[in-house]
Formats: sequence, structure tokens, C-alpha cells
Amino acid sequence: MQLHSIIKKKTTIEGKGVLNNRISEHILSNLSQIGIKNHLVKRLNMREQIIKLVEIIPIEFIVRNVATGSITKRLGIEDGTVLKEPLIEYCFKDDKLGDPLISEEHILAFDWASKKEIDKVKKMILRINDFMIGMFRGVGIKLIDFKLEFGRIKIDGINEVILADEISPDTCRLWDSITEKKLDKDRFRKDLGDLIPAYTEVAKRLGILHEQSNVSAVNITKLSSVKRKKK
Ligand code: TMP
Repeated sequence: MQLHSIIKKKTTIEGKGVLNNRISEHILSNLSQIGIKNHLVKRLNMREQIIKLVEIIPIEFIVRNVATGSITKRLGIEDGTVLKEPLIEYCFKDDKLGDPLISEEHILAFDWASKKEIDKVKKMILRINDFMIGMFRGVGIKLIDFKLEFGRIKIDGINEVILADEISPDTCRLWDSITEKKLDKDRFRKDLGDLIPAYTEVAKRLGILHEQSNVSAVNITKLSSVKRKKK
């Protein structure tokens, strides 16, 4: 991301945290079941999770299956181009710099992660991507791209790198398989509206919310008295 485009849209959308909390819990629990170690211990309530404390690797790993968003602007690639294979990009986590795109060489040059850690993370990313593509495809959603972060932790005396991030429509691009309707944060980024119905749709299709349930304004008002941790 270029410095001149750092000014970010910010607002609080009631109910988004509740949906993201449930969706992220669902995905991280499923990833645990296929052996992808991650920071989730358990969901505490509607808005909070207990997670493992890690030393975060200061890199955002962007995984792309279809070109859209920043890559299309940066490289002039046509929006919606299906990539031959998943593309992993690295961004240095620094808000003041606008999380600049970097190469693997930068990561090694500045000791942000070791070669062994990067290789491990890349293997995990490809498994996570394969799993999530299948999971979403099964419910009529295309996984376009997403962002992941990883952290270091000692488990039983052994240094490990684990997935340490939420996975939700805030951090993934999700398009309806047939209509290509955006069911993710692009509804906010591009002022498309109907963000909560889109996130609710994702949760319902994943079987997290029952068909008839809705994160209505009434429910949200009640929930907002619970201590908030997540946006
Ligand atoms: P981008 O096209 O804007 O680079 O975004 C790629 C994917 O990464 C998209 O699914 C949104 C996600 N993402 C985040 O979750 N957080 C971020 O800070 C950035 C830059 C992207």
C-alpha cells in the first residue's frame, strides 16, 4: 500500500464483532481438527475469545486465489483474474508505513523471521487455503483472498509457529459462487451497504446461525453492554 493511500475508513458497525467472533471460532476450530495449530483456546462469550499469548511475527501474509483489490491497482491485473496457483504476498506490519509490501529477502535481511519459519508458515498457509477453499465452496462461496498472521510460542518446551489471527469476512474476500456478490468487508470499503446481512449470510451458510436467526438491532443493543474486546 502506498503512503498516500494510508488514510483509512473507520467506523463501528454494531453486531459485526459478534458475527466475526462466531465465524472465526468456527474456522479456527475446524483448522485445529486438521492439525493447524492456532491461538484460539475458546470463545468466552458473544464478543470475546481466550487466545494464546504469542510473539507475533511482524508480517501480514496475504493469500490470493483470484486477483482483486490492491494487486489489481498495483500491477494493472484485470479484476477477477483467476490465478494459476495461490499467490502469497508479504506486508510489513507497520501502520505508520501503511503495511508496505515486502519480499522474502526483506524478511530475512531484517530478521523479521527465519527461513525455517517462513517455509513452515508457507506450508501451513497452503493447507489453510486448500481447506478454506473447500469449506467455502461447499456452501456456495468463493474464497478470493485473505490475510493471516502467525506468532511464536513455546509448547511443551518446543518453539512453534502457530496461526495467530482471526479469520472472518473482515480478513477474507468472499464472493457468492454464482452471483459473485461480495459477502465481506468490501461492502464497507466500497460503500456497498448491507454489511451485517452479508456477514450473517456467511454465518448461516457455514451452519453457525440457524436459518431463522438474525443479528437484529434488538439483539445487538442487549449485547453492547457486554465488555467489548473485538471490533
Ligand atoms: P488487499 O487487496 O487490500 O491487499 O487485501 C487482500 C486481503 O487481505 C483482503 O482479503 C483483505 C485482507 N487484508 C486484511 O485483512 N487486513 C489488511 O490490513 C490488509 C491490507 C488486507
